[in-house]
Amino acid sequence: MALFEFKDDSLLLGTVREVDTRQVSIYVKTDEDLRKAKVGQLVALRVTSAVEIWLIGFIDKVVKFVSIPNNQNNVDINVEEGGIEERREDVINNVKLTLVGTAKWDAIKRQYTFSRSLVQVPDIASKCYVLVDQQLEFFMNLLVTSGDKLHSLALGKYTLDDSATAYLDGNKFFQRHAALLGSTGSGKSWTVAAILEQAAKLPTSNLIVFDLHGEYRKLSYARHLRVPGPEELGLCSDELLYLPYWLLNSEELQAMFIDRSEFSAHNQVMAFQDAVIEQKKAILANLHKEQVLASFTLDSPIPFSIERVMDTLTDLNDEMEQGARGLKQGKFNGQFSRLLTRIRSKLSDKRYGFLFAAPDSEHQYDSMARMVTHLMDYKANNAQIKVIDFSEVPSDILPIIVGLVARLIYQVQFWTDHTKRRPLVLVCDEAHLYLPKKEGQNPIELRAIEAFEKIAKEGRKYGVALFIVSQRPSDVSETVLSQCNNVIALRLTNGSDQATVKKLMPESLESLLDVLPIMDIGEALVVGDAVLLPSRVRINEPSEKPLSATIDFWTEWQQEADTPDFMGAVENMRKQGRGINEA
Ligand SMILES: Nc1ncnc2c1ncn2[C@@H]1O[C@H](COP(=O)(O)OP(=O)(O)O)[C@@H](O)[C@H]1O
Ligand SMILES: [Mg+2]
Repeated sequence: MALFEFKDDSLLLGTVREVDTRQVSIYVKTDEDLRKAKVGQLVALRVTSAVEIWLIGFIDKVVKFVSIPNNQNNVDINVEEGGIEERREDVINNVKLTLVGTAKWDAIKRQYTFSRSLVQVPDIASKCYVLVDQQLEFFMNLLVTSGDKLHSLALGKYTLDDSATAYLDGNKFFQRHAALLGSTGSGKSWTVAAILEQAAKLPTSNLIVFDLHGEYRKLSYARHLRVPGPEELGLCSDELLYLPYWLLNSEELQAMFIDRSEFSAHNQVMAFQDAVIEQKKAILANLHKEQVLASFTLDSPIPFSIERVMDTLTDLNDEMEQGARGLKQGKFNGQFSRLLTRIRSKLSDKRYGFLFAAPDSEHQYDSMARMVTHLMDYKANNAQIKVIDFSEVPSDILPIIVGLVARLIYQVQFWTDHTKRRPLVLVCDEAHLYLPKKEGQNPIELRAIEAFEKIAKEGRKYGVALFIVSQRPSDVSETVLSQCNNVIALRLTNGSDQATVKKLMPESLESLLDVLPIMDIGEALVVGDAVLLPSRVRINEPSEKPLSATIDFWTEWQQEADTPDFMGAVENMRKQGRGINEA
């Protein structure tokens, strides 16, 4: 049996007339033949060799012969987009292809296989056939069987042949980070859910989802964590993820409290750091943690009392010294007034409650290990997928908080004995909100972005992968995006976003991206080493759907509603709580 058998010329498109490594130009004899060609379609070219070898390509461009009467000087006529430069070759029927791989008999595996490599370039005048119907089906099956079933993640069906399942190589997909990009409503959240659903079936998979709008909070197979909002402060529950302030490293703490533009900023930093170190030392000494005491640093996550730090700063701020002519102001007198005010206002701001108003149980030496277990566990029931709901976090500190969680996870993974380390994936939904480009960011945000950039660059060594999801790829940190080796591109309408995605793809495939704005919802172009062939895929619907974050204005307006309670809202604003837990 042969791989492809073309008994007659009914599927013959034409013959090779020009070859430029991956780009091939086909001479098509008649208009009838030309009609067989559609952009995006697959073609096969027979290579002359003893064994059966076919090169597989995509049609990029179809150009029909145009006769140009009475135009001797050959100017001003734009035959195709290519313009005058290309016109000479464009005046014959012509199809341009990009070669994407080779299909041939594998004597060892004893089957036909497809690979992304090009063993040979086609010979001039060799025949080019379009792949449709049975031939296409046969080829698509080849993709399925050539893929390593054991590591396969079924993503959906090929648009070209909806009977063939499109698989991703689950190893390669996460090994070097991945991105899922598409306009609002193009199907990103559903795609995430479709992938999570499959990962949840593996006994020890480990994915941590950053959920910015509470879209995934109902998924039954996941463990749910939530950064507490103002009205949940002080409550203890396994679901509530407090991030006590002492988890912040010194840079993050400084970014939070110190205004670099102030004259006394340098003294503020010194005094603040000294006070923090003192407090950490006191706690460690109290707990007899001699080993830690000997080697901890300012950045070590050790619980300390921010109130005590404030006491020390207050003393320095008020200090009077004995001078020659009686009492005089101490060295730092008055320098920390503003710092203290800033700390106090942060501490009493309920929006920051998850940092500063955690219950006592969260401030113990063991609290962090408990929190990390909750965050990174994969063994317990439903622990493979962890969804963290950040919807209550104010947007101005979202980058720090998400960055903090990512940094903690990465560091714990780093400090895990490498024989016990297990791979994990951070699913970063709405990444443009906390992973923006660096221009014009304040120092706090820069720290947070750096946490992710570090993971993007070094995470692979320690088994931490990023799965970046965004509707505004052009706003996402380039350092992070450019590290993503696999891209699932859903419909993208914005030009600058399309350009960003183009930059992520190998040049030879750029023409494939022209379909980005015209794809259907839930349809994606998948490119990268996790797929055998860059392909258009109709993504599976997840059986459990994410909740929609969209409000249906018109529908809502059609409903009857209660009398509005603005008085209550104004009171809530004053007391910083929506009063859910009050009687
Ligand atoms: N794979 C899919 N198949 C069919 N419909 C889909 C698919 N993905 C998304 N949709 C439809 O599109 C809507 C928006 O999808 P969603 O994933 O929330 O978009 P995004 O996260 O990109 O804003 C969904 O409510 C659903 O109706
Ligand atoms: Mg979404």
